[in-house]
Amino acid sequence: MTGFSTDCRIVYSEELRDGVHALTFEAVGLTPAQPGQFVHIKCGGGDTTRVLRRPISVADYFEGDAANNVPPEITVVFEVRGDGTQWLAERREDNTLDVLGALGHGFEVPTDGQILLVGGGLGVAPLMYVANANPLRCNAILGFRTAELILLSGEFDRLCRRVVIATDDGSYGERGTVAEPVRAALKSEQYAAVFACGPRPMLRSVAAIAAELNVPCQVSLEERMACGVGACLGCAVETKNGIRRVCRDGPVFDAQEVVW
Ligand SMILES: Cc1cc2nc3c(=O)[nH]c(=O)nc-3n(C[C@H](O)[C@H](O)[C@H](O)COP(=O)(O)OP(=O)(O)OC[C@H]3O[C@@H](n4cnc5c(N)ncnc54)[C@H](O)[C@@H]3O)c2cc1C
Ligand code: FES
Repeated sequence: MTGFSTDCRIVYSEELRDGVHALTFEAVGLTPAQPGQFVHIKCGGGDTTRVLRRPISVADYFEGDAANNVPPEITVVFEVRGDGTQWLAERREDNTLDVLGALGHGFEVPTDGQILLVGGGLGVAPLMYVANANPLRCNAILGFRTAELILLSGEFDRLCRRVVIATDDGSYGERGTVAEPVRAALKSEQYAAVFACGPRPMLRSVAAIAAELNVPCQVSLEERMACGVGACLGCAVETKNGIRRVCRDGPVFDAQEVVW
């Protein structure tokens, strides 16, 4: 599922909250095959200190309208972590991005049944695309450290049948991690799949609960990346099926395959 690199015009940029930005760019030829895939963005223009691209998940995709010359668009949501994402945060409408994608193996959406989306922090971003692509099939449980860090909850409210927010400090919604709301949801309703994205301890606990309750679970893993297309083994992870590349074999894996 390798795409190709292309220059993309930014059509919209917004700071969603302190240090977290959304960028929407024209995406001719970058059509994602599945939600959960990512784009690899060259950050820093010609600056050689940032030659490596930065992987950012597709948070939403609009297929455009070829008959009326409306190009497709990809939206990404990202947090400023270092130089690359800082450069990206400074891009504005009509700037151009060099984007490779859409890359990787995403979520395999079951043909029928409800999907439980479980996101932690910035991990909610790719799940928004799942919800948008599968209207009225998803419920969401979203975890954040504190109320100020809640992200995209309005979008999930609009796209999902039911949304539960949990904050570690209890400043909004349920107090604690997503674990108990996930257990309660899987016990009270039938789900065809759980899709999870967020910090690794959260993924591990969601995977364990889903396994205990016999619900198939897919998790999106994060590793630092170099090439992004399977050529350098920079993103290798150990799985029960041997060494796999997060950029090409993932980032989404069956939770049972992961060595936690
Ligand atoms: C498949 C995939 C999808 C991603 N999707 C998103 C997304 O939708 N939104 C988003 O905000 N971020 C996402 N990330 C993380 C994002 O790629 C990194 O934050 C970014 O590359 C940091 O680049 P930088 O130059 O700003 O920071 P750097 O200067 O390279 O690093 C700054 C800090 O971030 C840490 N860091 C860098 N890359 C990663 C990584 N891959 N995983 C964990 N820590 C990292 C470094 O260890 C360092 O502490 C994703 C990563 C992967 C692998
Ligand atoms: S980043 Fe090169 S193989 Fe994954």
